Amino acid sequence: MPTTARQWLLNGHPRGRGIEDGDFKLVETALPDPGPGEMLIRIRWLGFDPAQKGWMENIADYVAPMAIGDVMRGSGIGEVVASNGGRFAVGDLVFGTTGWTEYLVTEGRDLTKVETDLPPTAVLSVLGTTGLTAYCGLFKVGRPLAGDTVLVSGAAGATGSVVGQLAKIAGCRAVGIAGGKDKCDWLVEEAGYDAAIDYKAGDLREQIKQHCPNGIDVIFDNVGGAILNDMLARIATGARVVICGGISRYETGSLPAGPQNYFNLVFRRASMAGFIVSDWAGEFPAIRKRLEGFVDDGRLAYREDIQHGFENAPATLKRLFVGANRGKQMLEL
Ligand SMILES: NC(=O)c1ccc[n+]([C@@H]2O[C@H](COP(=O)([O-])OP(=O)(O)OC[C@H]3O[C@@H](n4cnc5c(N)ncnc54)[C@H](OP(=O)(O)O)[C@@H]3O)[C@@H](O)[C@H]2O)c1
Repeated sequence: MPTTARQWLLNGHPRGRGIEDGDFKLVETALPDPGPGEMLIRIRWLGFDPAQKGWMENIADYVAPMAIGDVMRGSGIGEVVASNGGRFAVGDLVFGTTGWTEYLVTEGRDLTKVETDLPPTAVLSVLGTTGLTAYCGLFKVGRPLAGDTVLVSGAAGATGSVVGQLAKIAGCRAVGIAGGKDKCDWLVEEAGYDAAIDYKAGDLREQIKQHCPNGIDVIFDNVGGAILNDMLARIATGARVVICGGISRYETGSLPAGPQNYFNLVFRRASMAGFIVSDWAGEFPAIRKRLEGFVDDGRLAYREDIQHGFENAPATLKRLFVGANRGKQMLEL
Protein backbone atom coordinates (compact mmCIF):
# COMPACT_ATOMS: atom_id res chain seq x y z
CA MET A 1 0.00 0.00 0.00
CA PRO A 2 1.33 3.49 -0.79
CA THR A 3 2.24 5.65 2.20
CA THR A 4 2.39 8.96 0.31
CA ALA A 5 0.51 10.62 -2.57
CA ARG A 6 1.40 13.47 -4.87
CA GLN A 7 -1.11 16.32 -4.79
CA TRP A 8 -1.50 19.62 -6.63
CA LEU A 9 -2.30 22.47 -4.23
CA LEU A 10 -3.70 25.90 -5.08
CA ASN A 11 -0.84 28.39 -4.85
CA GLY A 12 -2.33 31.55 -6.39
CA HIS A 13 -5.66 33.14 -7.30
CA PRO A 14 -5.55 33.88 -11.07
CA ARG A 15 -7.68 37.03 -11.00
CA GLY A 16 -7.52 39.41 -13.94
CA ARG A 17 -5.17 37.11 -15.88
CA GLY A 18 -4.85 33.63 -17.33
CA ILE A 19 -3.76 30.62 -15.29
CA GLU A 20 -0.01 30.45 -14.66
CA ASP A 21 2.20 27.53 -13.59
CA GLY A 22 2.88 29.31 -10.28
CA ASP A 23 -0.82 29.07 -9.37
CA PHE A 24 -0.21 25.41 -8.48
CA LYS A 25 2.27 23.63 -6.21
CA LEU A 26 3.11 19.92 -6.44
CA VAL A 27 3.64 18.29 -3.03
CA GLU A 28 4.00 14.79 -1.64
CA THR A 29 1.70 14.14 1.32
CA ALA A 30 1.66 11.27 3.83
CA LEU A 31 -1.41 9.02 3.51
CA PRO A 32 -3.17 7.92 6.70
CA ASP A 33 -4.40 4.33 7.02
CA PRO A 34 -8.14 4.14 6.27
CA GLY A 35 -10.06 4.49 9.55
CA PRO A 36 -13.31 2.61 10.27
CA GLY A 37 -15.71 3.12 7.33
CA GLU A 38 -12.95 4.62 5.16
CA MET A 39 -11.43 3.49 1.87
CA LEU A 40 -8.18 4.13 0.03
CA ILE A 41 -8.92 5.19 -3.53
CA ARG A 42 -6.41 5.36 -6.35
CA ILE A 43 -7.38 8.12 -8.78
CA ARG A 44 -7.31 6.88 -12.37
CA TRP A 45 -8.68 9.85 -14.34
CA LEU A 46 -9.29 13.56 -13.69
CA GLY A 47 -11.91 15.68 -15.49
CA PHE A 48 -11.43 19.38 -16.29
CA ASP A 49 -13.96 22.19 -16.51
CA PRO A 50 -13.56 25.91 -17.29
CA ALA A 51 -15.38 26.62 -14.01
CA GLN A 52 -12.25 25.47 -12.15
CA LYS A 53 -10.65 28.81 -12.96
CA GLY A 54 -13.61 30.58 -11.33
CA TRP A 55 -13.17 28.37 -8.27
CA MET A 56 -9.44 29.26 -8.14
CA GLU A 57 -10.34 32.96 -8.34
CA ASN A 58 -13.07 32.55 -5.72
CA ILE A 59 -15.37 34.37 -8.11
CA ALA A 60 -17.91 31.50 -8.26
CA ASP A 61 -20.08 31.94 -5.19
CA TYR A 62 -22.13 28.75 -5.72
CA VAL A 63 -19.23 26.68 -4.36
CA ALA A 64 -17.17 27.02 -1.18
CA PRO A 65 -14.20 29.39 -1.58
CA MET A 66 -10.77 27.86 -2.26
CA ALA A 67 -7.84 28.86 -0.05
CA ILE A 68 -4.16 28.83 -0.91
CA GLY A 69 -2.84 25.41 0.12
CA ASP A 70 -6.10 23.54 -0.61
CA VAL A 71 -5.88 20.45 -2.81
CA MET A 72 -7.00 21.70 -6.25
CA ARG A 73 -10.72 20.97 -6.58
CA GLY A 74 -11.84 18.88 -9.53
CA SER A 75 -13.70 15.79 -10.61
CA GLY A 76 -12.16 12.36 -10.91
CA ILE A 77 -12.68 8.62 -11.22
CA GLY A 78 -10.87 6.31 -8.83
CA GLU A 79 -10.56 2.66 -7.95
CA VAL A 80 -11.08 1.42 -4.41
CA VAL A 81 -7.80 -0.32 -3.51
CA ALA A 82 -8.40 -0.90 0.22
CA SER A 83 -11.42 -0.68 2.45
CA ASN A 84 -11.89 -0.65 6.21
CA GLY A 85 -15.62 -1.40 6.07
CA GLY A 86 -16.27 1.36 3.52
CA ARG A 87 -19.42 1.70 1.42
CA PHE A 88 -17.74 0.49 -1.82
CA ALA A 89 -15.95 -2.80 -2.44
CA VAL A 90 -12.28 -3.18 -3.34
CA GLY A 91 -12.08 -3.03 -7.14
CA ASP A 92 -15.10 -0.73 -7.54
CA LEU A 93 -14.67 2.35 -9.71
CA VAL A 94 -16.20 5.48 -8.17
CA PHE A 95 -16.46 9.10 -9.30
CA GLY A 96 -17.11 12.55 -7.86
CA THR A 97 -15.14 15.54 -6.61
CA THR A 98 -11.86 13.80 -5.84
CA GLY A 99 -9.48 16.74 -6.28
CA TRP A 100 -6.06 16.65 -7.88
CA THR A 101 -4.49 13.87 -5.83
CA GLU A 102 -3.08 10.46 -6.70
CA TYR A 103 -4.77 8.76 -3.74
CA LEU A 104 -7.63 9.66 -1.46
CA VAL A 105 -8.59 8.30 1.97
CA THR A 106 -12.31 8.93 2.39
CA GLU A 107 -15.66 7.65 3.59
CA GLY A 108 -16.80 8.39 0.03
CA ARG A 109 -20.11 10.01 1.01
CA ASP A 110 -20.07 12.22 -2.10
CA LEU A 111 -18.78 9.54 -4.45
CA THR A 112 -20.93 7.46 -6.79
CA LYS A 113 -20.20 3.97 -8.12
CA VAL A 114 -19.47 3.83 -11.85
CA GLU A 115 -22.30 1.80 -13.34
CA THR A 116 -22.39 2.01 -17.10
CA ASP A 117 -21.79 -0.23 -20.08
CA LEU A 118 -19.90 2.62 -21.75
CA PRO A 119 -16.17 3.04 -21.03
CA PRO A 120 -15.82 4.32 -17.42
CA THR A 121 -14.55 7.76 -18.51
CA ALA A 122 -18.07 8.44 -19.85
CA VAL A 123 -19.15 9.29 -16.27
CA LEU A 124 -17.02 12.43 -16.54
CA SER A 125 -18.05 13.27 -20.10
CA VAL A 126 -21.34 12.41 -21.77
CA LEU A 127 -22.84 10.94 -18.57
CA GLY A 128 -21.08 13.44 -16.30
CA THR A 129 -21.47 17.15 -15.65
CA THR A 130 -20.90 17.76 -19.36
CA GLY A 131 -23.84 15.72 -20.63
CA LEU A 132 -26.05 16.69 -17.68
CA THR A 133 -25.34 20.39 -18.26
CA ALA A 134 -26.18 20.07 -21.93
CA TYR A 135 -29.41 18.20 -21.14
CA CYS A 136 -30.64 20.41 -18.27
CA GLY A 137 -29.61 23.69 -19.88
CA LEU A 138 -31.23 22.84 -23.18
CA PHE A 139 -34.42 21.08 -22.08
CA LYS A 140 -35.20 22.73 -18.74
CA VAL A 141 -34.09 26.27 -19.51
CA GLY A 142 -34.08 26.46 -23.33
CA ARG A 143 -37.32 24.46 -23.75
CA PRO A 144 -36.80 23.81 -27.50
CA LEU A 145 -39.73 22.95 -29.76
CA ALA A 146 -39.47 20.89 -32.92
CA GLY A 147 -38.60 23.20 -35.80
CA ASP A 148 -36.76 25.73 -33.60
CA THR A 149 -33.36 27.06 -34.58
CA VAL A 150 -30.92 26.42 -31.74
CA LEU A 151 -27.64 28.37 -31.85
CA VAL A 152 -24.81 27.13 -29.60
CA SER A 153 -21.54 28.93 -28.79
CA GLY A 154 -18.54 26.84 -27.76
CA ALA A 155 -20.29 24.26 -29.93
CA ALA A 156 -17.31 21.99 -30.59
CA GLY A 157 -16.53 21.72 -26.89
CA ALA A 158 -17.60 18.87 -24.64
CA THR A 159 -20.88 20.45 -23.57
CA GLY A 160 -21.66 22.27 -26.81
CA SER A 161 -21.30 19.19 -28.99
CA VAL A 162 -23.83 17.32 -26.84
CA VAL A 163 -26.26 20.29 -26.91
CA GLY A 164 -26.39 20.28 -30.73
CA GLN A 165 -27.13 16.57 -30.89
CA LEU A 166 -29.84 16.81 -28.22
CA ALA A 167 -31.37 19.69 -30.17
CA LYS A 168 -31.43 17.45 -33.26
CA ILE A 169 -33.08 14.66 -31.25
CA ALA A 170 -35.75 17.23 -30.26
CA GLY A 171 -36.37 17.97 -33.95
CA CYS A 172 -34.61 21.34 -34.04
CA ARG A 173 -32.18 22.88 -36.47
CA ALA A 174 -28.77 23.10 -34.76
CA VAL A 175 -26.21 25.75 -35.66
CA GLY A 176 -22.88 25.85 -33.86
CA ILE A 177 -20.22 28.51 -33.36
CA ALA A 178 -16.63 27.31 -32.85
CA GLY A 179 -13.08 28.48 -33.39
CA GLY A 180 -11.38 27.27 -36.57
CA LYS A 181 -12.20 25.35 -39.73
CA ASP A 182 -11.35 21.89 -38.41
CA LYS A 183 -13.72 22.25 -35.46
CA CYS A 184 -16.46 23.58 -37.77
CA ASP A 185 -15.96 20.70 -40.21
CA TRP A 186 -16.20 18.25 -37.31
CA LEU A 187 -19.43 19.87 -36.10
CA VAL A 188 -21.19 19.31 -39.41
CA GLU A 189 -19.57 16.05 -40.51
CA GLU A 190 -19.53 14.16 -37.19
CA ALA A 191 -21.44 15.99 -34.46
CA GLY A 192 -24.68 16.28 -36.39
CA TYR A 193 -24.92 20.06 -36.56
CA ASP A 194 -26.80 21.45 -39.57
CA ALA A 195 -24.39 24.35 -39.96
CA ALA A 196 -21.25 25.70 -38.28
CA ILE A 197 -19.87 29.21 -37.96
CA ASP A 198 -16.16 29.92 -37.44
CA TYR A 199 -16.01 32.94 -35.12
CA LYS A 200 -12.32 33.34 -35.86
CA ALA A 201 -13.08 33.89 -39.58
CA GLY A 202 -14.62 37.32 -38.91
CA ASP A 203 -17.98 39.04 -39.34
CA LEU A 204 -19.78 36.79 -36.92
CA ARG A 205 -22.98 38.81 -37.07
CA GLU A 206 -23.25 38.40 -40.84
CA GLN A 207 -22.51 34.67 -40.59
CA ILE A 208 -25.24 34.24 -37.96
CA LYS A 209 -27.69 36.11 -40.22
CA GLN A 210 -26.84 33.80 -43.11
CA HIS A 211 -27.21 30.57 -41.11
CA CYS A 212 -30.22 31.61 -39.00
CA PRO A 213 -32.36 33.40 -41.63
CA ASN A 214 -35.54 33.19 -39.51
CA GLY A 215 -33.85 34.23 -36.30
CA ILE A 216 -32.73 32.17 -33.30
CA ASP A 217 -35.31 30.50 -31.05
CA VAL A 218 -32.87 29.12 -28.47
CA ILE A 219 -29.38 30.41 -27.71
CA PHE A 220 -27.17 28.09 -25.64
CA ASP A 221 -24.25 30.27 -24.65
CA ASN A 222 -20.98 28.90 -23.27
CA VAL A 223 -18.86 31.92 -24.14
CA GLY A 224 -20.42 35.31 -23.29
CA GLY A 225 -18.90 38.66 -24.31
CA ALA A 226 -18.94 39.75 -27.95
CA ILE A 227 -20.22 36.38 -29.21
CA LEU A 228 -23.29 36.54 -26.94
CA ASN A 229 -23.90 40.12 -28.07
CA ASP A 230 -23.85 39.12 -31.75
CA MET A 231 -26.20 36.19 -31.09
CA LEU A 232 -28.65 38.46 -29.24
CA ALA A 233 -28.87 40.65 -32.33
CA ARG A 234 -30.67 37.83 -34.19
CA ILE A 235 -33.15 36.38 -31.67
CA ALA A 236 -36.63 35.46 -32.86
CA THR A 237 -39.83 36.47 -31.09
CA GLY A 238 -40.22 34.47 -27.86
CA ALA A 239 -36.58 33.30 -27.87
CA ARG A 240 -35.02 31.64 -24.83
CA VAL A 241 -31.42 32.62 -24.10
CA VAL A 242 -29.64 30.06 -21.92
CA ILE A 243 -26.52 31.33 -20.16
CA CYS A 244 -24.44 28.23 -19.41
CA GLY A 245 -20.94 29.70 -19.11
CA GLY A 246 -18.77 32.65 -20.05
CA ILE A 247 -15.35 31.30 -20.97
CA SER A 248 -14.43 34.45 -22.91
CA ARG A 249 -14.17 36.38 -19.63
CA TYR A 250 -11.54 34.18 -18.11
CA GLU A 251 -8.46 35.94 -19.44
CA THR A 252 -9.68 39.32 -18.22
CA GLY A 253 -10.85 38.13 -14.85
CA SER A 254 -13.64 40.55 -14.16
CA LEU A 255 -17.22 39.54 -14.83
CA PRO A 256 -18.30 40.58 -18.35
CA ALA A 257 -20.13 43.85 -19.03
CA GLY A 258 -23.78 43.38 -19.97
CA PRO A 259 -24.36 42.81 -23.70
CA GLN A 260 -25.24 45.95 -25.63
CA ASN A 261 -27.97 44.08 -27.48
CA TYR A 262 -29.84 43.00 -24.35
CA PHE A 263 -32.73 45.31 -25.23
CA ASN A 264 -33.61 42.94 -28.05
CA LEU A 265 -35.09 40.81 -25.25
CA VAL A 266 -37.78 43.48 -25.00
CA PHE A 267 -38.38 43.90 -28.74
CA ARG A 268 -38.56 40.10 -29.20
CA ARG A 269 -40.41 39.29 -25.92
CA ALA A 270 -37.53 36.96 -25.12
CA SER A 271 -36.13 35.64 -21.86
CA MET A 272 -32.57 35.09 -20.70
CA ALA A 273 -31.74 32.79 -17.80
CA GLY A 274 -28.65 31.30 -16.21
CA PHE A 275 -28.51 27.96 -14.42
CA ILE A 276 -26.29 25.74 -12.27
CA VAL A 277 -26.65 22.11 -13.25
CA SER A 278 -26.42 20.78 -9.70
CA ASP A 279 -29.89 22.22 -9.04
CA TRP A 280 -31.26 19.11 -10.80
CA ALA A 281 -29.00 16.62 -8.97
CA GLY A 282 -32.02 14.56 -7.87
CA GLU A 283 -32.78 13.85 -11.52
CA PHE A 284 -29.22 12.94 -12.54
CA PRO A 285 -29.63 9.12 -12.36
CA ALA A 286 -32.67 9.25 -14.67
CA ILE A 287 -31.05 11.77 -17.05
CA ARG A 288 -27.85 9.67 -17.20
CA LYS A 289 -29.97 6.68 -18.25
CA ARG A 290 -31.58 8.73 -21.03
CA LEU A 291 -28.21 10.00 -22.25
CA GLU A 292 -26.76 6.48 -22.21
CA GLY A 293 -29.78 5.32 -24.21
CA PHE A 294 -29.12 7.99 -26.85
CA VAL A 295 -25.47 6.86 -27.07
CA ASP A 296 -26.54 3.22 -27.32
CA ASP A 297 -28.89 3.87 -30.22
CA GLY A 298 -26.26 5.83 -32.08
CA ARG A 299 -28.00 9.19 -31.77
CA LEU A 300 -25.43 10.77 -29.48
CA ALA A 301 -21.69 10.71 -30.19
CA TYR A 302 -19.12 12.12 -27.78
CA ARG A 303 -15.43 12.89 -27.82
CA GLU A 304 -12.91 12.68 -25.01
CA ASP A 305 -9.49 14.33 -25.05
CA ILE A 306 -7.36 12.30 -22.65
CA GLN A 307 -3.94 13.66 -21.70
CA HIS A 308 -1.50 11.65 -19.59
CA GLY A 309 0.54 12.01 -16.40
CA PHE A 310 -0.44 13.51 -13.02
CA GLU A 311 2.35 16.08 -13.36
CA ASN A 312 0.53 17.50 -16.41
CA ALA A 313 -2.68 18.48 -14.57
CA PRO A 314 -2.09 22.28 -14.69
CA ALA A 315 -1.12 22.16 -18.39
CA THR A 316 -4.21 20.07 -19.11
CA LEU A 317 -6.51 22.63 -17.45
CA LYS A 318 -4.91 25.42 -19.51
CA ARG A 319 -5.84 23.64 -22.76
CA LEU A 320 -9.50 24.62 -22.26
CA PHE A 321 -8.71 28.33 -22.41
CA VAL A 322 -6.83 28.17 -25.72
CA GLY A 323 -9.30 25.80 -27.38
CA ALA A 324 -6.72 22.99 -27.60
CA ASN A 325 -9.13 20.35 -26.28
CA ARG A 326 -11.04 18.14 -28.69
CA GLY A 327 -14.00 16.99 -26.61
CA LYS A 328 -14.15 16.50 -22.85
CA GLN A 329 -10.79 17.35 -21.35
CA MET A 330 -9.48 14.60 -19.13
CA LEU A 331 -6.17 13.29 -17.78
CA GLU A 332 -5.24 9.67 -17.17
CA LEU A 333 -2.95 9.21 -14.18
N1 LIG B 1 -23.91 26.32 -15.74
C1 LIG B 1 -23.44 25.13 -15.36
O1 LIG B 1 -23.96 24.47 -14.46
C2 LIG B 1 -22.24 24.57 -16.07
C3 LIG B 1 -21.77 23.28 -15.77
C4 LIG B 1 -20.67 22.79 -16.48
C5 LIG B 1 -20.05 23.58 -17.44
N2 LIG B 1 -20.53 24.86 -17.67
C6 LIG B 1 -19.90 25.72 -18.69
O2 LIG B 1 -20.02 25.08 -19.94
C7 LIG B 1 -19.04 25.63 -20.81
C8 LIG B 1 -18.37 24.51 -21.60
O3 LIG B 1 -17.57 23.72 -20.72
P1 LIG B 1 -16.82 22.42 -21.27
O4 LIG B 1 -16.28 21.71 -20.07
O5 LIG B 1 -17.70 21.71 -22.19
O6 LIG B 1 -15.58 23.05 -22.02
P2 LIG B 1 -15.27 22.93 -23.59
O7 LIG B 1 -16.36 23.65 -24.31
O8 LIG B 1 -14.97 21.51 -23.93
O9 LIG B 1 -13.90 23.71 -23.73
C9 LIG B 1 -13.83 25.08 -23.70
C10 LIG B 1 -13.90 25.65 -25.13
O10 LIG B 1 -14.20 27.05 -25.02
C11 LIG B 1 -13.73 27.70 -26.18
N3 LIG B 1 -13.08 28.97 -25.79
C12 LIG B 1 -12.02 29.14 -24.97
N4 LIG B 1 -11.73 30.46 -24.86
C13 LIG B 1 -12.63 31.12 -25.64
C14 LIG B 1 -12.86 32.50 -25.96
N5 LIG B 1 -12.09 33.46 -25.43
N6 LIG B 1 -13.86 32.80 -26.82
C15 LIG B 1 -14.64 31.84 -27.35
N7 LIG B 1 -14.49 30.52 -27.09
C16 LIG B 1 -13.49 30.18 -26.24
C17 LIG B 1 -12.72 26.78 -26.85
O11 LIG B 1 -13.28 26.35 -28.09
P3 LIG B 1 -13.00 27.17 -29.47
O12 LIG B 1 -11.78 26.55 -30.04
O13 LIG B 1 -14.24 26.94 -30.26
O14 LIG B 1 -12.77 28.60 -29.09
C18 LIG B 1 -12.58 25.61 -25.88
O15 LIG B 1 -12.36 24.38 -26.52
C19 LIG B 1 -18.09 26.45 -19.94
O16 LIG B 1 -18.40 27.82 -20.07
C20 LIG B 1 -18.42 25.94 -18.55
O17 LIG B 1 -18.08 26.87 -17.55
C21 LIG B 1 -21.60 25.34 -17.00
